[in-house]
Amino acid sequence: MKATARAHTNIALVKYWGKRDDALVLPCNNSISLTLDAFYTTTSVEFCDHLNDDVILLNGLIVDEREQHKISRFLDIVRSAAGTSVHAVVKSVNHVPTAAGFASSASGFAALAAAAMKALDLPLDEQAMSLMARRGSGSACRSVYGGFVEWLKGERKDGSDSYAVPLAAQDYWDLRVMAVTLSAGVKEVSSREGMKRTVDTSPFYNGWLQSVEHDLRNVRQAIAERDFAMLGRTAEANALKMHASMFAANPPIIYWHSATVDVIRRVKELRTAGIPAYFTIDAGPNVKVLCEPKDEIAVRSALLSVPDVLAVTVCRPGPGVTFLQGA
Ligand code: PMV
Repeated sequence: MKATARAHTNIALVKYWGKRDDALVLPCNNSISLTLDAFYTTTSVEFCDHLNDDVILLNGLIVDEREQHKISRFLDIVRSAAGTSVHAVVKSVNHVPTAAGFASSASGFAALAAAAMKALDLPLDEQAMSLMARRGSGSACRSVYGGFVEWLKGERKDGSDSYAVPLAAQDYWDLRVMAVTLSAGVKEVSSREGMKRTVDTSPFYNGWLQSVEHDLRNVRQAIAERDFAMLGRTAEANALKMHASMFAANPPIIYWHSATVDVIRRVKELRTAGIPAYFTIDAGPNVKVLCEPKDEIAVRSALLSVPDVLAVTVCRPGPGVTFLQGA
């Protein structure tokens, strides 16, 4: 009745933006990500007969009511798959600084899904874990695997064919992703709300959907051929298209700060100087910069010299879900 699992965050190179089913968390398009080593969540789940409700601790503190509700509703899905109604004690430790602009939801729900499923003796194949993690947060379904991962949007109404598949293992291609932390506050619009508003109101959303297939083909090919320029160019363009679709939403969603644009400009300067570096941006102001290992020091120092950049954390390809013994 007890298990502990660890999962790492991932960065999307072709983004997931927009759902075809909100309740089942089914996306309108496939997405491709790279799992990262530097940021992760470790979660233990213990189901206990005597509890009247779930007890949920994040970094040693009881979570607020909103979080509690979200996590308990997710545990209900796991419980119903196992045919039980027993409550659980969940202890989760996030090694994902919120300020780094990484959604801890990806590593958080992947670790929670894996630990809860193991504790309830549910089948633990990766597809089953990915299907379950998706119900907590879409991007979490990709964190089940290490390395490069594709989330298949699926066609079925019940979502049974919407899960992640591995494209290339953690050690396939040694790349760097720099997580650039800006001195900007927390984001105002959640990704859940942001994508819904974009789907409902942005005249550019169809343009996003039409061009995403092309980006997916290019990124798959770039991975297969280890073509860094193609990977970076496509990821950068894809992120810009996603943000353009948000700018055109009503009311508009602008996650960027002025320092976001300063970092974009610095990345372009690096390229002009002959250093291949490319950026991507999720639902927040922070920027992630892709580069090759040989350019790590030059890219990091160029980014650190941008005013308002607080930190630059170097990430490498990371592993998929792992289970911890006796934790
Ligand atoms: O999984 P969510 O609901 O946190 O949404 C993730 C959305 C993006 O990070 C912007 C894109 C992605 O594919 O990770």
